[in-house]
Amino acid sequence: MMAANTFDAMFSGVIGQEYQLLKLICPFATEMSRLVGFEVGEYCKSKSEPQAIVELGGGTGITTLAILSADERSSVLSVDNEPAMQNQAKQSLQRWADNGRLGFSGDDALSALTQLESGSVDIVASAYTLHNFEAGYRRQVIQEIFRVLKTGGQFINGDRYALDEVGVHTRNTQKEVAGYFKALKEINRLDLLEQWIIHLFNDESENHIMRESIALQQMIEAGFERIQFKSRHDVNALLTAQK
Ligand SMILES: C[S@@+](CC[C@H](N)C(=O)[O-])C[C@H]1O[C@@H](n2cnc3c(N)ncnc32)[C@H](O)[C@@H]1O
Repeated sequence: MMAANTFDAMFSGVIGQEYQLLKLICPFATEMSRLVGFEVGEYCKSKSEPQAIVELGGGTGITTLAILSADERSSVLSVDNEPAMQNQAKQSLQRWADNGRLGFSGDDALSALTQLESGSVDIVASAYTLHNFEAGYRRQVIQEIFRVLKTGGQFINGDRYALDEVGVHTRNTQKEVAGYFKALKEINRLDLLEQWIIHLFNDESENHIMRESIALQQMIEAGFERIQFKSRHDVNALLTAQK
């Protein structure tokens, strides 16, 4: 497993400012990318063939880089329908694209998955993307992830999973908001603070919130097995599941 400081050094080199800012606002988000990468690496280690990986919501490339670094043989298709985000990943991860290990899709997650053949993917990995989805769309995405995975394939998702205990989840979210204020006031970025608070209202809204037990139920209904929450840190949890 890659040591945290090696990981940080690699990221500050490749993704730089973006990574430093994310670490400031949401320290666990960068750790989550590392954990997703770790799970990808563990799965790939047990296979003799190079693995085909689809990443949903690659954003600026932080999770993508963790996945690419986890196994040197595997190939990654990184999906993100926000060009402003994906263009940053294209720039900083160009060397992986040039050597043929990384491809990009600018389609939304559901459309991109729909275009893939059934049973054609070894791993679907993602960080902090599915919680953004409207509940009905997310249900369809989960079903499509199951369809495109090979039997034995793995779904790895590091994300905001709201606790079933609503009071505890609210306190965790309040703690998070206090953290945004502390970090962003210090660097005088009230513009970013406004954006994060607005975004959080979307995450917490009834038609978006990804409640742990409902998410598990959806995974079971889609057909997944060995569904596990590997770790949790306040609102952030790492889930793995197998087809
Ligand atoms: C919070 S970012 C996460 C980026 C990266 N995985 C990380 O952890 O730092 C979520 C990303 O999901 C993308 N996204 C949101 N909805 C999407 C959709 N329906 N299809 C594809 N990408 C989507 C956004 O554009 C954004 O780049």
